Amino acid sequence: MSPLVAMKKTASSSYLGPGGLDLSKSFFTPISGGSPPSPTKRPTKITVVGVGNVGMAIAQTILTQDLADELALVDAKEDKLRGEMLDLQHAAAFLPRTKIQASVDYAATANSDLCIVTAGARQNPGESRLNLLQRNVALFRHIVPPLAEHSPDCIIMVVSNPVDVLTYVAWRLSGFPANRVIGSGTNLDSSRFRFLIADHLDVNAQDVQAYIVGEHGDSSVALWSSISVGGVPLLSSLERQQIAYEKETLKSIHKEVVQSAYEVIRLKGYTSWAIGYSAASLARTLLRDQRRIHPVSVLAKGLYGIDGGEVFLSLPAQLGRNGVLGVTNLHLTDEEAQQLRTSARTIMEVQSQLGI
Ligand SMILES: NC(=O)c1ccc[n+]([C@@H]2O[C@H](COP(=O)([O-])OP(=O)(O)OC[C@H]3O[C@@H](n4cnc5c(N)ncnc54)[C@H](O)[C@@H]3O)[C@@H](O)[C@H]2O)c1
Repeated sequence: MSPLVAMKKTASSSYLGPGGLDLSKSFFTPISGGSPPSPTKRPTKITVVGVGNVGMAIAQTILTQDLADELALVDAKEDKLRGEMLDLQHAAAFLPRTKIQASVDYAATANSDLCIVTAGARQNPGESRLNLLQRNVALFRHIVPPLAEHSPDCIIMVVSNPVDVLTYVAWRLSGFPANRVIGSGTNLDSSRFRFLIADHLDVNAQDVQAYIVGEHGDSSVALWSSISVGGVPLLSSLERQQIAYEKETLKSIHKEVVQSAYEVIRLKGYTSWAIGYSAASLARTLLRDQRRIHPVSVLAKGLYGIDGGEVFLSLPAQLGRNGVLGVTNLHLTDEEAQQLRTSARTIMEVQSQLGI
């Protein structure tokens, strides 16, 4: 058989020569005095569990932004999984080089640096995130323990909803220290918030510092008191200039943030692109040790007067290669602090029904 025929018949293998001969050796001649590859250089590996709309948006953003040397995809549906893997692999000529694997077997995820969990039942139009909970906790019992077993040093990032409670579930099921388990939380809500404020003021959203904290959901809290635009504190500067603003306008902007996901789901059936960019920005900060501050779901016990149990909710947190490095000591107004504690109680009430 000629090598050409063998090449046509062999799928995705580097051993393309007759009898499994490694043809790559025939293309290059080693230089004299070279050393073998350094054992200290380890590839960066990201696993994405769940190759639905959200998982694939995250996967493709990770690829286009060149965030990993290896990408492992896991799902329960074998055909869909293989189809998505091949579709991404076929873009190889247009993307940075990343080794893409896919398997229903968690062995494929071994030695990941970051495991992103998006698997879950999808939020139906009008369905609250909390309704999804029982369905998703059952899935997590099959997902988190094997991830932790195959990558005992990884950081786990939960995206599946309800994200705060499921981050708590992932933390408990993994046995990991709290700094290595985060939920994508209100990183996306805060981006929606910044977009709306930027739109009102006709500025670039990247110049707007604004956080939504608490639950990724209906009880989230907009931190109006700490918003700044290009370093100018928003509300206090309006007050200083005696420019009147309506509290109702502020409330309606926050309401629009909360409704955003429902609106996108109503219109296109699911959300994907914004959460893809949100998760990829978190992956970059974590794996490249960028030490940026993101509002993400972290273990909030004892912070901002939150007591009564172990609860994960979003607070502005500094992230790096060791996961959560710390939570920002923001000054909250009494009203904001109160709303945050109410949000914590909302999540804890749901959590208490889980028996985990
Ligand atoms: N946190 C956020 O900001 C945010 C934003 C958007 C969506 N979400 C959530 O992300 C999740 C996924 O949304 P989607 O639109 O991609 O849903 P989807 O239905 O398109 O995809 C879910 C995937 O999970 C897979 N899956 C189910 N059980 C599995 C198991 N046991 N092991 C492995 N894979 C399994 C399914 O086969 C499917 O491919 C939902 O919970 C959704 O609410 C969160």
